[in-house]
Amino acid sequence: MAAAFLLALLPFFVIGCDNVAVDSYYRKGALATASPIATQVGEQVFARGGNAFDVAVAVGFALAVVHPEAGNIGGGGFAVIRDASTKEIKALDFREKAPLASSEKMYLDSLGDPIENMSTVGAFACGVPGTVAGLYELWQKHGSMKWPELISYAILLADSGFILNAYQAESLAKYKDRLSVFDESSRLFFTGSKNWQEGDNFVNRQLGQTLAKIANEGPESFYSGDIADSIVATVKRYGGLFSHEDLASYQIKWRQPVNFRFDSLQIYSMPPPSSGGLIMGQILKLVEAYDFSKFEAGSIEYIHLFCESARLAFADRSEYLGDPDFYNIPFDLLDSAYISRRRQLINLNQVNSSSEILPGIMPSRESGQTTHYSVVDAQGNMVAVTYTLNSAYGSKLAVSGCGFLLNNEMDDFAIAPGVANLYGLVGGEANKIEPAKRMLSSMSPTIVLKNDKPFLILGSRGGSEIITAVAQLLINFSRFNLSLEKSLSQPRFHHQWLPDNIVLEEKSFDINLKQGLIKLGHIIKEADVLSEIHAVYINGAGLMIASADRRGPGHAGGQ
Ligand code: DON
Repeated sequence: MAAAFLLALLPFFVIGCDNVAVDSYYRKGALATASPIATQVGEQVFARGGNAFDVAVAVGFALAVVHPEAGNIGGGGFAVIRDASTKEIKALDFREKAPLASSEKMYLDSLGDPIENMSTVGAFACGVPGTVAGLYELWQKHGSMKWPELISYAILLADSGFILNAYQAESLAKYKDRLSVFDESSRLFFTGSKNWQEGDNFVNRQLGQTLAKIANEGPESFYSGDIADSIVATVKRYGGLFSHEDLASYQIKWRQPVNFRFDSLQIYSMPPPSSGGLIMGQILKLVEAYDFSKFEAGSIEYIHLFCESARLAFADRSEYLGDPDFYNIPFDLLDSAYISRRRQLINLNQVNSSSEILPGIMPSRESGQTTHYSVVDAQGNMVAVTYTLNSAYGSKLAVSGCGFLLNNEMDDFAIAPGVANLYGLVGGEANKIEPAKRMLSSMSPTIVLKNDKPFLILGSRGGSEIITAVAQLLINFSRFNLSLEKSLSQPRFHHQWLPDNIVLEEKSFDINLKQGLIKLGHIIKEADVLSEIHAVYINGAGLMIASADRRGPGHAGGQ
């Protein structure tokens, strides 16, 4: 009786202890996604007895309908998962692949210069999509409900429509001109209305039909059936390189996650072809040796240390990381002796310079859009999924008659040594374009255990900024002892070696702090917000606390 009473008080204690309101706390299952509607879908799947994998599959398809700028079936991504029955933690790679007809210099003119927009807009920018194969694999290996049932939520949302919120209406307005370049996309997004408003109902029957085929016939319909025919025909019409063989030969890969400890946290994150796990690991291992009693969250000293560590880690990213099926990473980037040697390069009183290295050409930045969601259930199944079309609405090219967009993921390759991609990242040999190769990513779906028990699931959108945002959250949580909410809401900053500047979230840092960083030698740039983390934390009592980053439109929920 007394125990039951104490247990009932627990949620209030958890919430009250640091005086911070959490979005939600649950016992049976919890999730955080970029869309309130997708989160509701997840709640319904939990209510029907689904496990975390069922939820992840249903949410993945629902986001493809209600969050079309990033949610997708025409893109790809990664998942890091924990199977509660075996306690095994694995990484699923459903990243896009370069078409078989692609070649190293395909985006360069006869003088060897990059051709504007070629790797970012239209059919030539598309990688072979992996999302449908990835979600199917998650379901087949770990799901408990029926495949068509999990897709039925998305089909209903596509067929009957969903109410646009302010964020979605603004997003469609912002990208209207760029989407309207392609007849297929113009018809798809702007037939119902030329000027979508908050509260309008957005219907996508073509997508409903496509999803129904995937529900009834499985992924074959996408990779070798009717849908494949439409994808190849659309891409060919716009001068792209896809063949039927590209789609038919697409395969997901299970990989060993990057695994390391940071303080008492056992971290599992995405290995190559994402740079996420290794670069986050390098940053955390570099800072781990410092005495944080001298630092405060958000102080000049800490931001400087973090950014100098990120500078070193991102320098390695440009040189050593690419698809491991094509390029052997030459040594263990998390080797402790190597990390100690690199740490000696950090000077707490002065910046290093990235200047001896080939400077990247920083293109004008289009806002990127990727989406991450985190799911856990009471059994201890954990699913962290990050998937994307790359930039918002991907290549902007919709597949004729099918209701979905294709990605522009080819831009994540190093299209020439030292040429920056959409996120200002540069690369070379390791990440050069080769047929059927996967382009290097920064996506970092991450699972954290503590004392071998589920502890935290997280990930983010934001291109290269994903890695620094996830690392900062883990430091806030572990080193600064902040709650999940406070860890999420801390102002963010970013450094990626090139371009050689710190990016600060504007309005979040005062003038003294900026002056202090400038004095140390930093060049400061500002961004509206950095990244958008969706996380679930499982406390010692097994209570699940889900939180969506207030920087975005997301929502947390559960049962
Ligand atoms: O894989 C990558 O690293 C990029 N394609 C991710 C893009 C992204 O996160 C855009 N998000 N806001």
